[in-house]
Amino acid sequence: MLKQIDACEIQDIEFTPERMVVDWTDGHRSEFPSIWLLHACDCDACGPSETGLRHVQLTQQPSRPQIISAYRQDGHAYVDWGNGHISRFAPVWLRGHCLSDRERLHRHPPAQPWGAEMADRLTYFSYTDVASDSDCHLAFLETLRDDGVLILKDVPASRERTEEIAGLVGRLHLTNYGIFELESKPKPEIAGDMAIALELHTDEPYRIEIPAITFFHVLKQSDAGGDSTMADGLWLAKRLEEKNPRAFEILKTVKARHNRTLKEGRAFDVQAPIFPTDSYGRVTGLRINDRGMAPVDCPVDLVEPFYDALRELLEMIYSGEGRVTVKLQEGEMMVFNNQRLLHGREGFDPARSHRHVRSCHVDLDEFHSRLRVAYRARGRLEAWRHMSSMAHL
Ligand SMILES: [Fe+2]
Repeated sequence: MLKQIDACEIQDIEFTPERMVVDWTDGHRSEFPSIWLLHACDCDACGPSETGLRHVQLTQQPSRPQIISAYRQDGHAYVDWGNGHISRFAPVWLRGHCLSDRERLHRHPPAQPWGAEMADRLTYFSYTDVASDSDCHLAFLETLRDDGVLILKDVPASRERTEEIAGLVGRLHLTNYGIFELESKPKPEIAGDMAIALELHTDEPYRIEIPAITFFHVLKQSDAGGDSTMADGLWLAKRLEEKNPRAFEILKTVKARHNRTLKEGRAFDVQAPIFPTDSYGRVTGLRINDRGMAPVDCPVDLVEPFYDALRELLEMIYSGEGRVTVKLQEGEMMVFNNQRLLHGREGFDPARSHRHVRSCHVDLDEFHSRLRVAYRARGRLEAWRHMSSMAHL
């Protein structure tokens, strides 16, 4: 069952010329400055910002507009500015934009890291259910947001269907790789073309915009080997912070460097911290691929501390701390947030049996848009949760 949030009801409204104060039936109190309210007005005269059609420019408005009256009517909040200009605010919208520290933090909830115990609670969804039932689809999106990974079962094991299935999250973002065919190739150029084991990594950390929601569509699985591995970057960050706070600090602040040069005439080279952080200083994910990491470009005195910190993190990763292994089957699709999770693969023997996995991805904008639309349709406050650059928020 999906958790429903109680409807937001306005109990009372008070005002001064420069403030509207709303008391809610659950006891919470929200305070809105007049300039904020005037800027938020989407009446016909002001125009809606949501469609990019606000007619009134901020510079045309007074810096301290005066509220003539603020009142509750039909469950909504109204602000009278005089001269016939009245703003109307729906209660769920107003509560969803409350400026109190408490509500702002609620809109920016921390993610829950997971370790090896995820092996026992990894969520499987039926493709048919997710594609046909909107509540199941919302649960699918929420699981992806909160855990960063799930597995779809009963998906058609047909190469023509990959894009359609990924459409459960959004339109594909195709890069130079297109929909990538992960199978052993006679003349491999990159590791994904080989049958060797691949240590835990994130994909394409050498891009400014790294792939986000990633799909592994299993068309053919190897009889022996080819198991998928994964680990939560947030959990590794937490473990590193506990074990060595200095190393953790360095990997949050010093920019690592990833590069990739391809024969087709592309050369990527990006510097960014392994652990990115949000405005609260919380780690939001990670980007790391040991196989493609270039020498760090940082002040010389930071070089050795950086490599010491990186070594400690990689030792944790390679030792299998927090690692989960799952053997995907034909007709399954692993869906995960590549900006939060590491993934890898055990080696397989291509001479014994063929393995073919198709990989593609969808941007976070598309993912968050789906969630937002689903919440709005249900009148739920989560519609106004902040979505940082990483999918778990
Ligand atoms: Fe990969």
